[in-house]
Amino acid sequence: MRKKIIAGNWKMNATKDEAVTIVNGLIANYSDFGLSENKIVVVASPFPYIHYCASMFAKFPNLVAAAQNCSEFEKGAYTGEVSAEIIASLYVEYVIIGHSERRQYFKETDEQLLLKINQAQNHNLIPIFCVGETLETRDNNKHFEFVKEQLENAIFKVNENDIKNCVIAYEPIWAIGTGVTASPAQAQEMHAFIREQVSAKFNGETAKEMSILYGGSVNAANAAELFTCADIDGALVGGASLKVDDFSTIIKAMK
Ligand code: 13P
Repeated sequence: MRKKIIAGNWKMNATKDEAVTIVNGLIANYSDFGLSENKIVVVASPFPYIHYCASMFAKFPNLVAAAQNCSEFEKGAYTGEVSAEIIASLYVEYVIIGHSERRQYFKETDEQLLLKINQAQNHNLIPIFCVGETLETRDNNKHFEFVKEQLENAIFKVNENDIKNCVIAYEPIWAIGTGVTASPAQAQEMHAFIREQVSAKFNGETAKEMSILYGGSVNAANAAELFTCADIDGALVGGASLKVDDFSTIIKAMK
């Protein structure tokens, strides 16, 4: 089902006390968010807090916890890794896969990302699969080609049934953490392109039902305009998701 999704990605931020403050703040504002089955909030905290987040959110429908990553392996002797099975056992529902920071700093390959997607889906976690180009790629007018390849090399390898349980996030690398957001027109153009690719690879119905999120310097001031775009179904928010007031404003901006 095509849902509106506002997802916060805390990345490697927030001490335990800060995490508690954010979670309590979101819960305090919950009744203003207007959440439903069709509009949900997802919070991707660092691993040590995901169980805490999931437990705290349990009484608040459509406010759910996510992981920022999962292992490509099922289980066993992989010191430091966290499996999709472990994450799912903590009542977590979503997992971000293929964030540009994972691709760039941890050299995650398309093959690994596909394994992670498979792991997530085997354990009923919904992958939020990230794509997005560098500024150089956009300046060379290769951004559509680049994003298409990222889709084809990983998430498009799942079957027709599994693709229905995936979310795609378009996060242009040049807009992440820079304060420079894609213009609504730039974001809408790429989102429409991604939806077209889903339609061509799978079918029109699946494309119509897919949630496609925009990420990259989304903040309390620019969210409302981005959300007016026909193919933008929500946001993947980094920095602003650490500030309860800003994140709450972004959630409320999604009508
Ligand atoms: P910022 O919102 O801080 O630009 O981060 C975006 C992002 O990478 C979310 O996953």
